[in-house]
Amino acid sequence: MSMHRVVFAIFFLSLASMASSAQVVTYTFGDSLTDVGNNNFLQFSLAKCNYPWYGIDYNGGQATGRFTNGRTIGDIISEKLGITSPPPYLSVPKNIDALLKGVNYASGGAGILNDTGLYFIERLSFDDQINYFKKTKEAIRTKIGDEDANRHCNEAIYFIGIGSNDYINNFLQPFLADGQQYTPDEFRELLISTLDEQLTILYQLGARKIIFNGLGPLGCIPSQRVKSKTGQCLKHVNEWIRQFNSKIQKLIKKLNRRLPNAKLIFADTYPLVLELINNPTAYGFKYIVLQCRHKYRRFMLAKL
Ligand SMILES: *[C@@H]1O[C@H](CO)[C@@H](O)[C@H](O)[C@H]1NC(C)=O
Repeated sequence: MSMHRVVFAIFFLSLASMASSAQVVTYTFGDSLTDVGNNNFLQFSLAKCNYPWYGIDYNGGQATGRFTNGRTIGDIISEKLGITSPPPYLSVPKNIDALLKGVNYASGGAGILNDTGLYFIERLSFDDQINYFKKTKEAIRTKIGDEDANRHCNEAIYFIGIGSNDYINNFLQPFLADGQQYTPDEFRELLISTLDEQLTILYQLGARKIIFNGLGPLGCIPSQRVKSKTGQCLKHVNEWIRQFNSKIQKLIKKLNRRLPNAKLIFADTYPLVLELINNPTAYGFKYIVLQCRHKYRRFMLAKL
């Protein structure tokens, strides 16, 4: 078993220990890596992918709003937990039975900061997603009462994967303010202190078991590689991401100490994704540098 498989196995073991009750309920927050269709409900959003050939390898072969040909990481984890992948929140905002079974708030183009991805016109920022979870909790409380609603929220598992767009569709865009206003260190500290507040709010709303997905090597995605003369990964971008991942791990330790019964864990996806980029054929991939192109569009945004 390779080191990465061991890491993954340990991750699923921790998941299994978190998922003690019979029916696991999950609430997912994030960006295009986990969006299962919320942006289809945002009329003016430019961060959409409900057209071919998205979904060609998904059940039924149709586009669903997932930014992929197949399943998202959330879909795969749901399957491992033995549950159906929760629906997009915006498809069921008033359906209490659905809310009780878990929903997904993730939105392509979203970030930790409000203004991340602003040129997509509409997307649910992490704050928006947390506000929708607050509404979810209020609806559940009205239905099953205070005590049961609290227990329900305490027992659920929360998946969060956010932050990539704060770099790709904010800090690294020279025409947006944040890249000019902050140094890389200041920007990272802004992200971490904002996340500190956001995770604390989630905790106050009842979240206890939280899995935070670290960022992958964003310097290696096509939209960044094209900035290097030889198409190589951008080392400075990868270095910023490693620093972000290291700071978020420290924040998670701090929150676990500060918040009673909090059980946050960090899922370190960076080395796994890098391994895939370095050894694509071992995992059945042929091309790792090419940006996907869509028949009817001049270009496709590689990372929303
Ligand atoms: C986003 O905007 C709202 C409303 O102006 C504000 O209350 C909130 O603090 C902002 N969040 C972030 C992360 O900047």
